[in-house]
Amino acid sequence: MALKYVIQTYGCQMNTSDSERIVTVLEKMGYKPCEEFKDADLIILNTCSVKQKSEDRIYGFGKQFRELKEKNPKLAVGITGCVIRKASGLRHECEEEIFRTMETVDFCFRIKDLMMLPDMLRKLHPVKGAENVKDLLSYFHIDPTIGNIAQVFIPIGSGCNNFCAYCIVPYARGREESRSMAEILDEVKKAAKRGAKEINLVGQNVNTYKPSDEDPKSKESPFAQLLRKIDAVKGVDRLRFYTVHPKDMTDDIINLYGTLRTMTPHLHLPVQSGSNSVLKRMNRLYTVERFKELVAKMRKRLPHMSISTDIIVGFCGETEEEFMESYNLIQDLKIDLVYVSKYSEREGTLAARTLKDDVPAKVKKDRFERLTDGMMHVSHEYNQQFLGKTVQVLVERIRKGYADGKIPEFKMCRFPIKGMSAAKANKLIGQYVDVKVEKALEWALEGKAVDLPK
Ligand code: SAH
Ligand code: SF4
Ligand code: F3S
Repeated sequence: MALKYVIQTYGCQMNTSDSERIVTVLEKMGYKPCEEFKDADLIILNTCSVKQKSEDRIYGFGKQFRELKEKNPKLAVGITGCVIRKASGLRHECEEEIFRTMETVDFCFRIKDLMMLPDMLRKLHPVKGAENVKDLLSYFHIDPTIGNIAQVFIPIGSGCNNFCAYCIVPYARGREESRSMAEILDEVKKAAKRGAKEINLVGQNVNTYKPSDEDPKSKESPFAQLLRKIDAVKGVDRLRFYTVHPKDMTDDIINLYGTLRTMTPHLHLPVQSGSNSVLKRMNRLYTVERFKELVAKMRKRLPHMSISTDIIVGFCGETEEEFMESYNLIQDLKIDLVYVSKYSEREGTLAARTLKDDVPAKVKKDRFERLTDGMMHVSHEYNQQFLGKTVQVLVERIRKGYADGKIPEFKMCRFPIKGMSAAKANKLIGQYVDVKVEKALEWALEGKAVDLPK
């Protein structure tokens, strides 16, 4: 009987995309997927390290893995993702910290060492398929096994050079590397052939994309060049990207909104704080005024554009006044979606070395709740504009008698599919459905399908 695997993925879209490459390697080696840990012979956790809570969640699996191993002696456990910093290898061959914190882990690998995975697995399991994986050149070259055709994430590079004071990512992912345009385009075309309509490009700072094959004669930045090339790919009609750093957002990208067919009326532009003094302590290298100017320029091109952002509350030394500047920024600019995080000190970062994590947990929680409440009002108001209108939903999932997916403005919209067979409902995933909006809630829209695809 084939050996079975489960991959559990945490963190950002970069990890989602990496997991799809891991799946390709495992399936080439003959492993078959299963749903639950209890049925698995191989468990891989693709981890996030952005907050202490994200790491603690991983360590919390220790006991469960011990019990599972007692029941299934074949079970092997591997850890990858941002918790793994220094090296890849089997326990006893590798110095990585995870082996000290979790005694039930058998191997770990940095995602850029994904090519080492087959050899490690051969030492743990009687797996074959050596021929199929002998020419894995680098992890970017591995063809991903797309998990959900409605949500295709394609990395344009990895790593980050910015060293924002709070952030572990440059330590976890290393310095910024860019993939070639040719390689990315090839992956986009393959995804489009499989039926992908929306492409999400992912990188820590997409604007500093610097591939080896940029056009040196072009007046546009390499990222703008890449967007133009993807815009020309048949079948792709929604293009999104994460994340833009406000200090590096250039006019050539802004000018593509309303120009390129595929640019969606939504931008995720993480501001992190609405206070210049906090931004300075965070080492973000832009001002609130610069952020406002960017939002104004975008809205001049597309007045109803949805702008989402990230905000950290309770960063070192954040006063009530500084917090209120973040609160007011969201209200004033009508930012309709905010991912709020409570500051979590990360060992080794600039903030951990030079600043005090001095905002009490209670205050962080209170600010988190106030900012979230404030944002819900803005989001609710923004969503009202869709009432009675027909929107185009790209279906991503079927749940509890509803099909659910995003409209171009990045809002989720669901519609009932009662009476439809499961097979037919699943066929809707990755398809567009026009929906007449009847309810505009704080987080999402709801309506009725105008006509369902045959
Ligand atoms: N490259 C992106 C962010 C990647 S990390 C950018 O430049 O914006 C994703 C989000 O996690 C960040 O935007 C931030 O809001 C949050 N985050 C990162 N480090 C954090 C920390 N130490 N504590 C709390 N939130 C953090
Ligand atoms: Fe972290 Fe800053 Fe890099 Fe984003 S830009 S990944 S917040 S260091
Ligand atoms: Fe987390 Fe790593 Fe992404 S730390 S947010 S999974 S880059």
